[in-house]
Amino acid sequence: MTGYLDRIGAGLVITDPEPFNFDYVPEELVGREHLQRQLAMKFNVVASPGGAARAIITGPVGSGKTVLAKTFCRDLQRHLSGKRSLKTVHVNCRNASTSMRVAQRILHQFDPGHPDRGLSLGELLLSVRKMIRRSGVHLIVVLDEVDHMLRRSGDELLYQLLRIDEDQEGSGSVSLVLISQEQVLDVLETAVISKFGASNHLRVPKYDLEGLQAIATQRARLALSPRSWDDGILNLIAKKAEPTGDARRVIEVLNSAAERCEARQDDHSLPEISIEDINEVVASSGAVYVTERLEVVDDLPPSVMLALLAMCRRLRNQARMTMGEVEGLYKVVCEEYEQSPKSHTTLWKYVKTLEQEGIIDSHVATVEGGRGRTTHLSMPNLLPTDIAGRLELLLPKRLARR
Ligand SMILES: Nc1ncnc2c1ncn2[C@@H]1O[C@H](COP(=O)(O)OP(=O)(O)OP(=O)(O)O)[C@@H](O)[C@H]1O
Ligand SMILES: [Mg+2]
Repeated sequence: MTGYLDRIGAGLVITDPEPFNFDYVPEELVGREHLQRQLAMKFNVVASPGGAARAIITGPVGSGKTVLAKTFCRDLQRHLSGKRSLKTVHVNCRNASTSMRVAQRILHQFDPGHPDRGLSLGELLLSVRKMIRRSGVHLIVVLDEVDHMLRRSGDELLYQLLRIDEDQEGSGSVSLVLISQEQVLDVLETAVISKFGASNHLRVPKYDLEGLQAIATQRARLALSPRSWDDGILNLIAKKAEPTGDARRVIEVLNSAAERCEARQDDHSLPEISIEDINEVVASSGAVYVTERLEVVDDLPPSVMLALLAMCRRLRNQARMTMGEVEGLYKVVCEEYEQSPKSHTTLWKYVKTLEQEGIIDSHVATVEGGRGRTTHLSMPNLLPTDIAGRLELLLPKRLARR
């Protein structure tokens, strides 16, 4: 009775699921040669003894920041082997969001059992320094999603790391790479960028259609049976991901379409991903996908953000609201941020914009009691609490900038 498992591991379509993992680090990065070259230029100094580099990588969600840093450090280590011994520590500050935790992670890369209880930040870094000296390596510290740490603990650790060689002979023990989504870093710490030197700032653009298709092609070659896909199919998948410019999205759609194709195989079907496979997975994954993407609000004009914040505050504990309610709460929010509220008509336009962006939903319903009709607004794809938090973070800076 386990016939339903037959398809598992049969590999008619998916021959190796591994390359669909988001953490999978491919051998080659596709279409990012100019960024790789820029990074290489910054790290030129690392080839000489005593040289250390620094870089800040920013860009939108899924633009390949993490994978750029990972492949770069890996390739550099290989390239310099025999010349200078490198060690890379890649810490995701979303999971280790205080300076103490980040410092512990760095230390544990050298010595997983090293006691860290009760040690101060300075003492932790002293131990790191000793380990570097003892092993004679050059350490590259990559702080990914660094905005989380900056928000919790400030930038103390950054400066301590940059000064790690003070008071001792020798120099260039540590290179530092910071990664952050653009908008968030901008909000938190433009000062960090200027202290690191604006010329060390690499801006990673989002992917266009061609870039997304190239990534889909790479993953298809690695993971799928060659007869299950062709360029036309991958182009369609890339088009589905194009509005987001997010590489994760294109990989996700390819993976799900391939899984769907694999699952529907029987004696009569061709093991080829079809247009229907793609449409089906896009239709069913849209909502889930958006939920994780708080960044959808980042590019809204601040005046629209105010209207959205008003809505979020009500939709936190109420499934839907009317335009009248939006208007009332909008005035309160405007007052809070010392902005004069816009007219009813303008507010209505804002609501339409938010609907077009897929952030809110509206539908016309009959008023209770049957007299007249009213518009109900809701937020089915996103968590109002999370969006409100993001807006509260972004709004003060955005308004100040005007
Ligand atoms: N140029 C590329 N070539 C091959 N794979 C890529 C490329 N760019 C991104 N990817 C893949 O797309 C996925 C998302 O990339 P990555 O995690 O590096 O994005 P990110 O910019 O760090 O996103 P976030 O802002 O969410 O941290 C990963 O699986 C990565 O391997
Ligand atoms: Mg990342």
